[in-house]
Amino acid sequence: MSARVTLSVDGRAVAVAAGASVAAAIEAAGVAVFRHSVTGTARAPLCGMGICQECRVTIDGEPHRLACQTACAEGMRVETAAAGGSRGVGR
Ligand code: FES
Repeated sequence: MSARVTLSVDGRAVAVAAGASVAAAIEAAGVAVFRHSVTGTARAPLCGMGICQECRVTIDGEPHRLACQTACAEGMRVETAAAGGSRGVGR
């Protein structure tokens, strides 16, 4: 039996396996748009390995964190574009 952690994605509680990435938790929450580019284009993970930067979200108030490279932690607060998280480059 694997341990689970519960975090919030855009204010909604999501339980995932310990060690899962924040990107996986966001997907599990049913969120498809992680952020918007400066031109307003919807963005979501592309590479899954820390290169493309398309998965940036706000985690515990810190913008531009890479969801694909960050492990979920108990009580973590994740904000995607829907909640005003990491809206675009330089913001
Ligand atoms: S999906 Fe490419 S950096 Fe996260």
